[in-house]
Amino acid sequence: MANADRPRAGPEIGQAAFFEAVVRWQTTHGRHGLPWQGTHNPYRVWLSEIMLQQTQVTTVLDYYPRFLARFPDVQTLAAAELDEVLALWSGLGYYSRARNLHACARQVVNDWGGRFPSRAAALQTLQGIGRSTAAAIAAFCYGEPVTILDGNVKRVLSRLLAFEGDLAQAAQERRLWDLAQAQVPSQAGHSEMIAYTQGLMDLGATVCHRSRPDCLLCPAADLCEARSSARMAEFPVRTRRLVRRTEAWWWLVLRRADGACWVQQRPARGIWAGLYAFPVYHTATEAKAALEAATGYPVAVTEHPVVRHALTHRDLLLHPLECDWPATHQLPEAWGPGQWLDESRADALGLPTPVRSWLKGRTGG
Ligand code: ADE
Repeated sequence: MANADRPRAGPEIGQAAFFEAVVRWQTTHGRHGLPWQGTHNPYRVWLSEIMLQQTQVTTVLDYYPRFLARFPDVQTLAAAELDEVLALWSGLGYYSRARNLHACARQVVNDWGGRFPSRAAALQTLQGIGRSTAAAIAAFCYGEPVTILDGNVKRVLSRLLAFEGDLAQAAQERRLWDLAQAQVPSQAGHSEMIAYTQGLMDLGATVCHRSRPDCLLCPAADLCEARSSARMAEFPVRTRRLVRRTEAWWWLVLRRADGACWVQQRPARGIWAGLYAFPVYHTATEAKAALEAATGYPVAVTEHPVVRHALTHRDLLLHPLECDWPATHQLPEAWGPGQWLDESRADALGLPTPVRSWLKGRTGG
């Protein structure tokens, strides 16, 4: 591409100025005292970073200590069954994170003698650890002068630099990575790297909001190219938009006389992979036909109100169809593998949030 055609980042900021402003600001105005701060233990930092991907801090504050109490170190996690990990993850969403977490723990134990590697480049070879997460672990735990660049930080830096490149294009994203790395002095010390890394996260989460950033509170306001031309809303540039689809599912809720419901393990790929949920059909007719085929006669079903559940790329409209399952009947193979679940065991199994809420709502739990 000819130079003149390249999307321009604004004049490059003197790296030390931005770095130092963020370090100073984080020390006095950033977030402190979160349970994953103040530790250099890579297991704890890794776990927090994975949980915090796509999940609010307030939610993670609830899950993180519970997870650590059950799995205090990488060895315990590696030795666990995946089902138990999924059960503790239940409600956090994005379950591939939990599967990767478990696989990564096993890699650390089997391939790295139970110790996380200390360099970002090596961390990135582990399952579920992307470039930004690898950098966060390496910076927090070992002080490696490497930059993070998650979604929030892309917004901060693309505004700071008035970065015109379209982040939907991999080449432009790579350019922003290079510019982000250029903000980090190669001689930065460990405590500065901790403050800078956390400061970038804190700026993105608490000041440089997607809409109406709080520039008056920003330590880098004077350095910010977007602000100097009042173009904050124009960055980051990203042409590809997420297309959301709505999909209707019919849930077959089989209830035994003792109150237990049948939940089936979902396939290893796709929505709620590996979790337990009610058997799914794409029309009510299909669901009722499957039920009738299983019993040999028409079964009365109660049609409950629709539950709406938002996933990243889809809105699910869930239609629960409940019926009393006759004790004398065998379940057809198509509904396996699975198990009868009563409310007392609902927390011990990996259930998607709407399945758990629906079960608890139905049983008054
Ligand atoms: N989001 C990602 N990592 C974080 C951290 N260490 N603290 C707060 N929010 C985060």
